[in-house]
Amino acid sequence: MEQFKQFNNEVWFVGAEMAPLAKAGGLGDVMGGLPKVLLKAGVNVRVVIPYYKNIIPQNFIEIKESYPAGRVGFGEIPFEFGIKTGITNSGIPLVLIEQNHFFNREEVYGSHGGIYGYKDNLWRFAMLAHGTAYAMSILGIPLVIHTHDWSGGFVPAVIRQTFGDKRVHFAPAGILSNSKMDKYVNAKGLRPAVIFTIHNLGYQGVYGIDDFYDIGIDFRYNSPSAYEHFGTLNSLKGGMLLSDIVTTVSPTYAKEITTPGFGFGLDGELKNLYNNGKLKGILNGIDLDYWNPKTDSLIYYNLNLKENSYKLRDYKEWRGFKTINRKALFSEVSLPLKIAKNGRPFPLLGIVSRFTEEKGIDIFLDSLFNWNDFPFQVVILGSGKDYIEKKALYLSKIHSDKVYAQIGKYDEALSHKIYAASDIFVMPSKFEPCGLSQMIAMRYGGVIAAGDTGGLHDTVSDIVDINIKEPSGILIKYLNASGVSWALNELYNIYMGSNGDIWNNMVINAANKHFGWDDSAGVYKNLYYDIIK
Ligand code: ADP
Ligand code: GLC
Repeated sequence: MEQFKQFNNEVWFVGAEMAPLAKAGGLGDVMGGLPKVLLKAGVNVRVVIPYYKNIIPQNFIEIKESYPAGRVGFGEIPFEFGIKTGITNSGIPLVLIEQNHFFNREEVYGSHGGIYGYKDNLWRFAMLAHGTAYAMSILGIPLVIHTHDWSGGFVPAVIRQTFGDKRVHFAPAGILSNSKMDKYVNAKGLRPAVIFTIHNLGYQGVYGIDDFYDIGIDFRYNSPSAYEHFGTLNSLKGGMLLSDIVTTVSPTYAKEITTPGFGFGLDGELKNLYNNGKLKGILNGIDLDYWNPKTDSLIYYNLNLKENSYKLRDYKEWRGFKTINRKALFSEVSLPLKIAKNGRPFPLLGIVSRFTEEKGIDIFLDSLFNWNDFPFQVVILGSGKDYIEKKALYLSKIHSDKVYAQIGKYDEALSHKIYAASDIFVMPSKFEPCGLSQMIAMRYGGVIAAGDTGGLHDTVSDIVDINIKEPSGILIKYLNASGVSWALNELYNIYMGSNGDIWNNMVINAANKHFGWDDSAGVYKNLYYDIIK
């Protein structure tokens, strides 16, 4: 590999997804949303992702330069890959790792939202790490590498084996946005600082230990202090242990994962990091420009209010917003509008989710099956585990007047329409590192029924908690079908209640939450400065 030039004043994000170019879940939203806000705050960010030629809409990016191919040996097999730079149409600089065999696929991870992952995902995401290090030899070394999840887990090892273990430690605050780097050149022998963000501990990239010798990673990292975990190869473990600081996506989840119930076998390591101040929980945000009920072009009717801070008197407009969007959605998916005895429409429950056990969609479906003639209408969008998909389809078949389910597909437009139309957004997750869907749903005036965990605990203000002043939903303590039924019943009574103000207030409270990126982007920016000074 060509020798390295010098540090540039950049922060490089590395990850498998980036909305709207290629997205399988919330990681994509974060990789697209956070860099945009950091750029606005003056941090020189670039995002490194695989060049998914089949997935990324060509009009979403502009390719700037192509560079000579790099090479890496996976065991006996040599692979070539290309580097391209470009920019997204929202102005985020990109590095694209081009390797058609690995990345020119239909999906990011595999079918059904990645539940059935591609067999060679280990090699694919090792390639991402090698491509990232090679790109540095061409474009300069960033001061900070911010890598994400198990798919970004080989980046810290490749950085260390290429640049050494000693990390950069000299930049004063301001350097990340200062184009004059003359004082900091020729820093050969130092590696960038590395931040690793865990978005979901349920996915660790676990493979057979023998596979370790086929991904171009130095053998010394086959150790319990890096990727070896009880005789297996664990990408997430090595990624976090070889990084300088580890973050996760909400304060509550940061604490939860230090316990055996949430730690997925890594709670010991995580507890150590936490106690040493090396594990921090920083709440995600959503892109408030993209998820905006006033301007969203994918929904049928936009909210017609000027202010951003809504008052109870604005409820009338919010109700109109929900009513018109529901009517149009129902006509698109052929659901009749059901009216309760008191003349109010049944509350509409919305689901937009990956279908894994973690998300609790199965217990939500069980809860409706258990109900004797449930008084809700439901629109479900999701894909994932086969048995959950089948259960959702079955429910929609036997209650075709009340339930519509679109299964097995990712559908951005329909997701927006569901957020805009639903009265109650249901997310009974057993664990939830952050959760963006509840933030989006609240922005569109949805009241939330959610598991009391992780980022849901940090973002949903619980009506049952007497200390909470501005409730926006209900947190479910007992996550089983009866627990979900209990929560839905409570919300139903509030929605139908004679004292409508409680419901109206909840809608206004939810819509006023505005979980943007500004605060958290500030925290990340400080973290980048702290770590290189
Ligand atoms: P996770 O990342 O664990 O799946 P999040 O709540 O953080 O959960 O983020 C989920 C994101 O993916 C949201 O933006 C949600 O709207 C979107 N999403 C999930 N499933 C689908 C789908 N089938 N079609 C469209 N968008 C989806
Ligand atoms: C993961 C988590 C989700 C989080 C998202 C973005 O997919 O499951 O809770 O919101 O990453 O950080």
